Amino acid sequence: MSNTAKRPVIFSGIQPSGDLTLGHIAGALRNWVALQHDYDCYFCVVDLHAITVRQQPAKLRRWTLDCAAMYLAAGIEPTSATIFVQSHVPAHAELAWVLSTFTGFGEASRMTQFKEKSEQHAQNVNVGLFAYPILMAADILLYQTDLVPVGEDQKQHLELTRDLAQRFNNAYSPTFTVPEPYIPRYGARLMSLQDPRKKMSKSDPNHNATIFLVDDNDAIRRKIQRAVTDSGTTIEYDPERRPGISNLVEMYHLATDEPIEAIVERFRDASYAAFKAAVADALVAYIEPVRTRFLEIRADEGHLASLLVAGAERAARVAERTLRKVYRKVGFWSPKD
Ligand code: TRP
Repeated sequence: MSNTAKRPVIFSGIQPSGDLTLGHIAGALRNWVALQHDYDCYFCVVDLHAITVRQQPAKLRRWTLDCAAMYLAAGIEPTSATIFVQSHVPAHAELAWVLSTFTGFGEASRMTQFKEKSEQHAQNVNVGLFAYPILMAADILLYQTDLVPVGEDQKQHLELTRDLAQRFNNAYSPTFTVPEPYIPRYGARLMSLQDPRKKMSKSDPNHNATIFLVDDNDAIRRKIQRAVTDSGTTIEYDPERRPGISNLVEMYHLATDEPIEAIVERFRDASYAAFKAAVADALVAYIEPVRTRFLEIRADEGHLASLLVAGAERAARVAERTLRKVYRKVGFWSPKD
């Protein structure tokens, strides 16, 4: 597709609230890489979202740069996609405020992720956590986004985003593109190595549950060896009944691209130990180059900073245009109008 034709817009983001994991590659980054040349992509490091759970300032700063560096290490090209940090573009917080006045209290109360997180962080159920999906709607709507690659757990937030866009458009005049969810070609969802019924998470307190992209080869091998499996004896792919071993098959598939059926066929009668060793080898070969690139990118903070400054400038130009329209429509007076 030529660069001058207007390409459909994609927006997505990850919170810099921990080290990124193999699950981020499986569920997000490899799809982003595959999309970046055919769409006008905005890939954001959503630090405003991260503080809805209390963060240590020094860690948040480090994870913000780590997160951006990992986008690059995974293969996002800053010449194709716009990579930036959410707090660098004030329009996100500004539009979120306006959208909050279009969101019903009951509507926001129905968000299942809010209910879950309120239970997880019962000592800090803050208003920002409640408003989280409204900020996410602002992220998406500022860029006139057509498609949003998100996992199952974010579908309800995207539904709210669509409702808010339509509500605003109907109240005034067409202002926002109404975004659609993007169902990725590679939909793999990796599960915790310690409890394969839970999603693999960067915030899991048990580090053995998660393969981090910065894990060294020994750590990767150790975590796979210790992965919880079930009491079966064959290697099968049946996420419902055999979640532990299926998760390892999924990882082997991710690392090698070999079809699931072929993997199962080849390893069916292998011992768990032998299969785990094969998975560990495949993962080491897959993750090592990503980690090496990450460390190179991270070693030149000046370069990374200049990419993020340029990304934020590019993003802000687009975001400001939408925000100005919104401000004008709701009746804010401006000397520029
Ligand atoms: N809420 C998303 C998550 O936790 C992160 C996010 C913030 C996002 N803003 C977004 C994802 C906009 C897609 C589009 O996964």
